[in-house]
Amino acid sequence: MCGIFGYVSSKKTSPRRVLAGLKRLEYRGYDSWGIATISNEKISVKKRVGKIGAASVGDLPEGYIAFGHTRWATHGGVTDINAHPHLDCKNEVAVIHNGIFENYESVKKDLIKNGHKFVSETDTEAISHTIEDQIKKTNFPEAVRKTFNKMEGLNAVIAICATDRSLIAARNGSPLIVGFGDGENFLASDAAALLPHTKKVYFLEDDEMAILTDKSVKVVDTKSGRLKKVKVQKITWNLADGEKGKFKHFMLKEIHEQPRVIADIIGSGTGPAQNLSKLIKSSKGSYLIGCGTASYAALAGTYLFSKIAKFHINSAIGSEFGYHLDFLNRKSLVIAVSQSGETMDILESVKKAKNKEAKIAALVNVLGSSLYRMSDYKTLIGAGPEKAVASTKALVGMLSHLILTAFALDGRVREGQITLNLALESTKNILTKKSIGHIKNLANKLKNKKHIYVIGRGLSYPASLEAALKIKEISYIHAEGLAAGELKHGPLALVEKGTPAIAYLPNDETYGANLAGAMEMKARGGYIIGVSFKPHEVFDYFIPVTDAREATIIPNIITAQLLAYYLTIEKGFDPDKPRNLAKSVTVK
Ligand code: AGP
Repeated sequence: MCGIFGYVSSKKTSPRRVLAGLKRLEYRGYDSWGIATISNEKISVKKRVGKIGAASVGDLPEGYIAFGHTRWATHGGVTDINAHPHLDCKNEVAVIHNGIFENYESVKKDLIKNGHKFVSETDTEAISHTIEDQIKKTNFPEAVRKTFNKMEGLNAVIAICATDRSLIAARNGSPLIVGFGDGENFLASDAAALLPHTKKVYFLEDDEMAILTDKSVKVVDTKSGRLKKVKVQKITWNLADGEKGKFKHFMLKEIHEQPRVIADIIGSGTGPAQNLSKLIKSSKGSYLIGCGTASYAALAGTYLFSKIAKFHINSAIGSEFGYHLDFLNRKSLVIAVSQSGETMDILESVKKAKNKEAKIAALVNVLGSSLYRMSDYKTLIGAGPEKAVASTKALVGMLSHLILTAFALDGRVREGQITLNLALESTKNILTKKSIGHIKNLANKLKNKKHIYVIGRGLSYPASLEAALKIKEISYIHAEGLAAGELKHGPLALVEKGTPAIAYLPNDETYGANLAGAMEMKARGGYIIGVSFKPHEVFDYFIPVTDAREATIIPNIITAQLLAYYLTIEKGFDPDKPRNLAKSVTVK
């Protein structure tokens, strides 16, 4: 996914405003960045490979209109020339784009045949040259709309024209939000970037095109061109929510926000859990689906529902679900779990499930996101904006909601709040200076390891998978989460002297069997890191986690978040923006 920010104003304003907006969006993609402004009917562009960092746009002229883009490369290498914006032959049209223009090769071939000159390898450039052709026959907004309708695939396209005072944006599948200002209007790919300017927003729907001037915002249907009603919403997040504040990285801030997230979910009452549990009970066959970290929340949900409510629910990885959902019918329920609500693998599976007439419930963190809007029932996670690529507080929010729902299924939702409170206390213990120092020390010991294994059983199995993902996705150390019972079926062959193994040993029915797994690894030279409610002689390193019954999975995972963060710091990498990744994967 990419970061998009733009404004159109009644007064000439500095492009520094766009740069600041892009910086708030850089977590969405940071291979390169670029800005275009219009001044005296001339487009000026500055674009560079890499993160924005200390870059300046003082060399760009002030303008009434400006927009910018941070790129996560799909078509075309990471180069200055492939960075957005992209221009037409006459430098009169500039375009930024998020998504994949699936039929661009054939369009580009025709354009070149008609004399257009291309300079980049991107699919996006074919959009600006198509608008150039269209603008000869009609006005700028219509030229963009007709161009957009030629495009196949899921895209968001934003265009400006040197001789026009409007910012045009069309979407089908990639998020775009309009911000309403005073004498100026804004556009962004994420509501958090609008917070310094306005809280009044409109979430563009699929197949809608917005025409922004300094005085007005019109929205039309991209297919018919017909005017549509604009329902302005107010975002509840505060400016500080989207800032790092006193923390060095968003990830550390978001780790430390987790007690508040759990407390807010406990305090927000039992309504969401009761509603979701009723929906599950009334459905014949329910599925929890998610990708990456969210898939581990979904898997944890199957254990929670079984342990707490003796209830069977399935889980599936979002990118796989589409291949085995043929059994779904109108009585089925698919609960899609997602922080961003824009993960294409989830959206695609949900679309297929809807075609089978299954009911869709979203457990999602972003109001107005695609998943939020395509679902029949919505539960907002309520974790606040999560900007680090590595998901932390959103996962804890997902687990908290699933724990409450499991208790609600069993008619014991008050007990669920009490259990979550235990997790809150246990989490606070882990986030003390002393405990963090202890985990930092472990990170120093492990920083040069090539492989780290994490073993667990029961609820600690999804915890192990999540712990391994945190470690590998930001510290780049290979880490593998294992069902401890599987060790002797193969992975034990990997253990040699000094191989680090994190063993989750909560005070539950898995303790004895998982201790055996730790001992099997120790017997072969493994270095055992026990994450448990009590020490044990088999541990070479002990991380205490106070018991929180079925919710102990939450503090257990938080120890891994901290370990992954400090491993990354030890290795000198950026925990917020790991290489090759983006905050939300909006391509298949
Ligand atoms: C988690 O740390 C990763 N960034 C990634 O696995 C993420 O959880 C996954 O891409 C799903 O994102 P979503 O929750 O926004 O759908």
